[in-house]
Order: sequence, then C-alpha cells, then structure tokens
Amino acid sequence: MIGPGARVLVTGGSSGIGAATVAAFAARGCRVVAVGRDASALAAVARRTNATPYVADLTEPRAIPALVSEAGDVDVLVAAAGLGRAGCLTDLADDEIVELVDTNVLASLRLAHAVLPGMVRRGRGHLVFVSSIAGHMAVAREAVYSATKAAVNVFAASVRHEVAVHGIGVSVVVPGAVDTPFFARRGAPYTRRFPRPVPASVVADGIVRAVERGKAEVFVPRWLRFPARLRGVAPGLTDALQRRFG
Ligand SMILES: NC(=O)c1ccc[n+]([C@@H]2O[C@H](COP(=O)([O-])OP(=O)(O)OC[C@H]3O[C@@H](n4cnc5c(N)ncnc54)[C@H](OP(=O)(O)O)[C@@H]3O)[C@@H](O)[C@H]2O)c1
Repeated sequence: MIGPGARVLVTGGSSGIGAATVAAFAARGCRVVAVGRDASALAAVARRTNATPYVADLTEPRAIPALVSEAGDVDVLVAAAGLGRAGCLTDLADDEIVELVDTNVLASLRLAHAVLPGMVRRGRGHLVFVSSIAGHMAVAREAVYSATKAAVNVFAASVRHEVAVHGIGVSVVVPGAVDTPFFARRGAPYTRRFPRPVPASVVADGIVRAVERGKAEVFVPRWLRFPARLRGVAPGLTDALQRRFG
C-alpha cells in the first residue's frame, strides 16, 4: 500500500501532524496531495516534500467532491484536519459548536464517503482517521471536541466492518498531547506537566505504521491505550480519577 507511486491524500497537510504525515509518506516515495486552507503554509510544506498542495476549506460542502476528483485514485486517505475549542459547554457559541462538528466529523465522513467507491472498485485502499485520546476519556472543558472524536472512532469501526471484504483497511490513530499549533489555536495553551507533548513526527510514524500493519487503532504514545481501555471497563473509576487528578 505504501511505496513509490502510491497516492496519498492528507488533510491538515499545512500544519502539525498533517504536515509531518505528508513528509513521512513523501519520504517513502508516495505521491502526496496535501490539503489545507493556509496557501502559504501549504506551499512551504509542498516545497520541502515535493507534495502537491491543494487549498480547500473542508467545511464547504462542495470542496470535498472537487478535491477527490482532482486527487485521482487515492490509495491512502489520512483525515488529519481538525481543531479544538477550549471552554465549558456553556461558554461556547453555537457557531463554534457547528465549526467543530463540521471540521472534525462531517468533513472526515464526507471524505471517506467520497474516496471509498474508487477503493472498492480497485479492491484496495486504506482510510486513516486522526482522532484523540479525548474521544476515549471524556475531557472537561472539551466536551464538544471529545464528542467529535468519539464520533469518528465509532464511525471508523463501523466502516471497517463494511469494507474489510473489499480488502480496504480502516485505522484510527489516537494521539495524546502533540507539540503543534493546535493548543494556541484552540484558545488555551497545554499546561499539564504530564504527559509531555510528543513531536508531530512521532504521530506521523504511528500513521504510517497503522497503514503498513493494517492496525485498527494506534495510540501515540502507546501507553495511552491503558487509560482508554480502563475507561471502557470501569468508567466510574476513571471518571473519579479524572476529577481527582485532571
Ligand atoms: N496537537 C494535539 O495535541 C492533538 C492531540 C490529539 C489529536 N489531535 C488531532 O490531530 C489533528 C491535527 O491537529 P494538529 O495538532 O496537527 O493541529 P494544527 O497544527 O492546528 O493543524 C490543524 C490542521 O487542520 C487544518 N484545518 C482545520 N480546519 C480546516 C478546514 N475547515 N479545512 C481544511 N483544513 C482545516 C489546518 O489547516 P490550515 O492551517 O491550513 O487552516 C491544519 O492543517 C486534529 O484532528 C486534532 O484534533 C491533535
């Protein structure tokens, strides 16, 4: 799936995890289309990696069909575009809630919906969704963000059942804190001392690993799967621990 000539479409390619993912696939000889809204940031990524830049706002309903027809036969889709918004639910404006859902959920669903028919026809392909540990852990002051990521997790798992018969893989990559502009953009810096943010390149490596090994779920760092699994079996205990330790 990954190798010289493979076509990879990466959203969020202008910054952070997406930009590192563009570089990781380009380094393996893939033909990468990098998507973002910031044309100059995207151009800089394209210069560094030889990727093809594509400027689009993925919350525009017409943007996704146009992007997918321009990208051609996509072998790997990495849906990394996303944003957060810090604050209690009562502090968020309606348009902020809509922007989070449109960007983090609807755009990822529409992208998968648009690229899958071609993958099914060709009998191969891989979808990667960049989720978040917030989608497993129910994080205070990030209720809407957490909900968007939980939605993506279940969506990916459902689609995985549907497309396995066609030879198509579906992965969810679940980062904890990552050193990117994400926190500045969401309106609140990352202040916890633990866990320390990992470089975006570590998440990009996790994304490549997910495709190469056909993994359903990759946590970055790996130990994050333990609190996620604990919440699955003992939600009351993890909620109490989260309220005590944050
Ligand atoms: N950083 C973390 O700690 C962390 C942790 C867990 C999960 N994540 C997830 O990782 C993904 C990437 O985040 P990041 O940390 O790399 O943040 P980032 O550096 O802020 O990058 C976000 C990317 O999403 C793109 N984007 C946002 N809205 C868009 C829209 N409407 N249309 C097109 N592109 C849009 C941005 O494009 P432009 O800049 O060109 O607008 C940018 O390329 C997100 O889904 C985020 O939820 C991040």
